[in-house]
Amino acid sequence: MRTPEEIDRLVEELLSRMTLEEKIGQMVQSAGLDTAAIGGDLDAAPLEEEIANGRVGTAIYIQADAKLARRLQSIAVEKSRLGIPLIFCQDVIHGFQTVFPIPLGWSCSFDPELVRRAVEISAKEATRAGVMLAFSPMLDIARDPRWGRVSEGAGEDPCLDARLARAQVMGYQGGEDGAGLGDGEHVACCLKHFVGYGAAEGGRDYNTVEISPSTLHNVYLPPFKAGVDAGAAMVMPSFNLVDGVSSAASPYVLQTLLRQELGFDGVIVSDYAAVVETIAHGLAQDGREAALRCANAGLDIEMATDLFNRELPRLVMEGKVPEAIIDGAVRRILALKYRLGIMDDPYLYMHEGEEKAVYLAPEHLETARCLARESCVLLKNDGALPLKEGAKIALVGPCADSKDQLGPWQFSAFKERTVTLRQGLEERGYAVSCEPATTIFEPLEGGVARAVALARDCDAIVLAVGEDMTMSGEAASRQNIVIPEAQMALAEAMRATGKPLVTVVTCGRPLLLDWFERHSNALLCGWFPGTEAGHALADLLSGDHNPSGRLSISFPRHAGQIPVYYNHMPTGRPWNGISDEKFVSRYLDGPNDPLYPFGYGLSYSSFKLAEVSLSSGRMTREDTLAVTAKVRNTSSVPGATVLQLYVHDVAARVSRPVKELKDFVRVDLDAHQERTVTLHIAPEDLRFHDGRDWVLVSGRFEVFVWFSSADCDLEKLEFTLE
Ligand code: NOJ
Repeated sequence: MRTPEEIDRLVEELLSRMTLEEKIGQMVQSAGLDTAAIGGDLDAAPLEEEIANGRVGTAIYIQADAKLARRLQSIAVEKSRLGIPLIFCQDVIHGFQTVFPIPLGWSCSFDPELVRRAVEISAKEATRAGVMLAFSPMLDIARDPRWGRVSEGAGEDPCLDARLARAQVMGYQGGEDGAGLGDGEHVACCLKHFVGYGAAEGGRDYNTVEISPSTLHNVYLPPFKAGVDAGAAMVMPSFNLVDGVSSAASPYVLQTLLRQELGFDGVIVSDYAAVVETIAHGLAQDGREAALRCANAGLDIEMATDLFNRELPRLVMEGKVPEAIIDGAVRRILALKYRLGIMDDPYLYMHEGEEKAVYLAPEHLETARCLARESCVLLKNDGALPLKEGAKIALVGPCADSKDQLGPWQFSAFKERTVTLRQGLEERGYAVSCEPATTIFEPLEGGVARAVALARDCDAIVLAVGEDMTMSGEAASRQNIVIPEAQMALAEAMRATGKPLVTVVTCGRPLLLDWFERHSNALLCGWFPGTEAGHALADLLSGDHNPSGRLSISFPRHAGQIPVYYNHMPTGRPWNGISDEKFVSRYLDGPNDPLYPFGYGLSYSSFKLAEVSLSSGRMTREDTLAVTAKVRNTSSVPGATVLQLYVHDVAARVSRPVKELKDFVRVDLDAHQERTVTLHIAPEDLRFHDGRDWVLVSGRFEVFVWFSSADCDLEKLEFTLE
């Protein structure tokens, strides 16, 4: 492994031998390998010529395949004048060949260590096929379930998102500060989308955002800070405007926030075509101006379009873009190439023939199953779950025997290996009769009638409904976040049979589930569970494993409540949810609170909390307070719960949220077992941005410790920061 000093020296030496055009070539990321974008025809792209001419430095590589990577790498190494290898980048989001639950799902596990393991497996599989860099993790806080990309992130909370950010950076890059880079088994990773993309107005993808400076700092930045602190190699600015300028062209976003405030010194890559899109944003008249603005703002790599190659040489010659900016970008890109080990062995990540032994390896599937189990959230249960051993099950609905359980942003070649719910239940010995009855949107001829017939003759109905993979992810915003009509008609027909109704929803976002809360006997949210979907779901439905997931995002009752999130600001006229006062902050036609709040989730066990105490009622600016509590499993079923610690700043210079998560821990407990658990609050957790600066304000703080963000006021403690 080369030392940083050695890398610096080698980079300077190489840089001194590069022409201006060659330097700029390093700043271009070709999408010639994104075969979807070029009509599926690889040979149609002049990619090979571009590589040979040194006009490409990195490539997006959706059709990952080691043989192809080797061929293209050999062109870069053997035909380009300086022989600088390419970095192949891929959207490895929740798995490579083994598909894990969608990130919104895995965030409900509140289990950063398991997420780290899953991500490390993704890296290992991806590196078999030439992938060296993952466009992941996606750290956008999302408070609007209409936005399709909620599926890709960790939900609505900065603390949880930040913990998972760190875990993922450690998993992809093999430890802190890229400790595993260059070992051929880990990949560099890219934090995205910096910043505020999740606040797209109306939940419509690519739409503009409006964020105050304090919200930007307090809510949207912390996950990125955690990712930068863990040593992520790359950051991708977001498509949206921040204060009128798209992130890729914004000196405020790239320099002030990212480089200065967060101290990021790695590579900045634009999002797909974001440089060209400055024209549509009304920030540039033409490609020349677009390239000028983005380069001068500090964008190191242009993804997918070719304006840097076309425009920058002249702009530098004319003195409009300082060559020092180009040199800085190229230094960072070359340093990453050294860190990845490809300057020494360009073929380090190409393992033709070895892939089979690694893809979907038994331990990968086991981790996928375990993480999928931990991601599922039991939303309701009146005793219908777990299913009785050997019960006769009518399994109905479009997701009953469907392999469309992987969700968006995965390119696995092994979709056929997805375990369906039917398979899962059958393997557990249930007598399953199955009828899809509808597609996701349309009734099947005679389907509902067949489903009713099966239901009449069963012990319990398992109704498997939800979204398909195209309904979430990028460019997949929805106005009506409901279960489509045909499926609702099936649900009504199932309810009318009077049989115990267990609903399993697989989806990429919070949906409006009020009907199911009222009419299902049990309701399990599986998100998109991934390759091991059916196994994981059946593990839980059968009671062999106990649901332990907790929501990382609130489920509204009605779309009119959006945005509805737990860590909202107080109002001057709060409503207690019960009184019939008029001039308070409420709706005339429905409650304020969500159907299911952040942190909520049921279990087959029951848990009790006792003896919650604070190590001190006072905190100095150097102290960390400990909050201890006894958590008891009061049932005879082993299970896990998530103990959550929330803080409220009672009175500050600017208003602070009603509560904010500051620490959490998963607690595994045997039947009737009790454990003492300790959570922590550090002064750093109490700091906030007041719109101008970060401040730490003395005064009173309330502390809530509970198993959910709702009802946690029951266990209120207090301390004073001195
Ligand atoms: C656009 C998406 O916004 C981004 O998340 C992704 O990494 C790039 N395309 C590359 O596919």
